[in-house]
Amino acid sequence: MAGLRLANPTMLASGILGYSAETLETIVDGGAGAVITKSVGLKPRNGYANPTIVQTSCGLINAMGLPNPGIDEFVKEIREAKNTLDVPLIVSVYGFSAEEYATVTKKAVNAGADAIELNVSCPHVKETGSEIGQNPKILAKVVEKVKASVDKPVFVKLSPNVTSIAEIAEAAVKAGADALTAINTVRAMAIDAEAAMPVLSNKVGGLSGPAVKPIALRCVYEIYEKVKVPIIGCGGITNWRDAVEFLLAGASAVQIGTAVAVKGANVFKAISRGIDAYLEKKAFKSVEEIVGLSHRSYPA
Ligand SMILES: Cc1cc2nc3c(=O)[nH]c(=O)nc-3n(C[C@H](O)[C@H](O)[C@H](O)COP(=O)(O)O)c2cc1C
Repeated sequence: MAGLRLANPTMLASGILGYSAETLETIVDGGAGAVITKSVGLKPRNGYANPTIVQTSCGLINAMGLPNPGIDEFVKEIREAKNTLDVPLIVSVYGFSAEEYATVTKKAVNAGADAIELNVSCPHVKETGSEIGQNPKILAKVVEKVKASVDKPVFVKLSPNVTSIAEIAEAAVKAGADALTAINTVRAMAIDAEAAMPVLSNKVGGLSGPAVKPIALRCVYEIYEKVKVPIIGCGGITNWRDAVEFLLAGASAVQIGTAVAVKGANVFKAISRGIDAYLEKKAFKSVEEIVGLSHRSYPA
């Protein structure tokens, strides 16, 4: 997919257990076909004060604030992960300008990243993330600059917090994106009735988990109708049936985040075995045969 060879179509989503080579190894042992690191930027960031995550009846809301050690420190983990993992290693990158995205990307690729995922969709940090990904012109500049600086596949991770995700997808592809990841979290909040105040220190965060699955499916379906590059579906995938629905909507692979926190690393094995069993039962020979298969109408 987009120049990478995957043993199965499941990947670890960015931000879930993704900084040390050791935890990434646990995820690969659990059956992931590729791993995405947590988003890394040019300089170290502490992130927000606690509470940064809250469990609701339908999923998690997080506003971590992109805590990370900065790329110069993180390259050590990239090198170690590259030496120990036998699946593609994709580094998630954020920045506050096109130049920053490109600088961090170059350092990540020099350290061994097999591909880059641009986080232009984090919903809770000002002047980066979705503030870039919601504006097609700024997004195009970032993607062009990054593509011109490295020779590895560049994925662009899109935000659902826009009027038309398909239009943003088209802008990313025109600027050179090799694949699109859809979606990052959905802007949301929780309020504590006893304390009479927002639960998260940042007030607003991003919702993930089962509640966002129908939104993510709709996004993948709409993007598939507009662009030709591979789509990686993400959002609320918990079991093989969810994953198959994303493939039928048009995704060529899936990312799993919140379900890893809930079910553990073996969720990858369970999901890829389930996909295999579905393909066999329906007499399909490969995942490719079902990508986008649901794009047909009811007979008139
Ligand atoms: C605690 C937490 C941290 C996250 N951190 C990042 C991040 O650093 N970069 C990013 O692109 N997405 C991040 N995400 C978003 C996930 O990668 C994913 O897009 C989203 O959670 C939807 O998938 P899920 O429902 O399977 O979790 C984070 C999500 C959670 C729950």
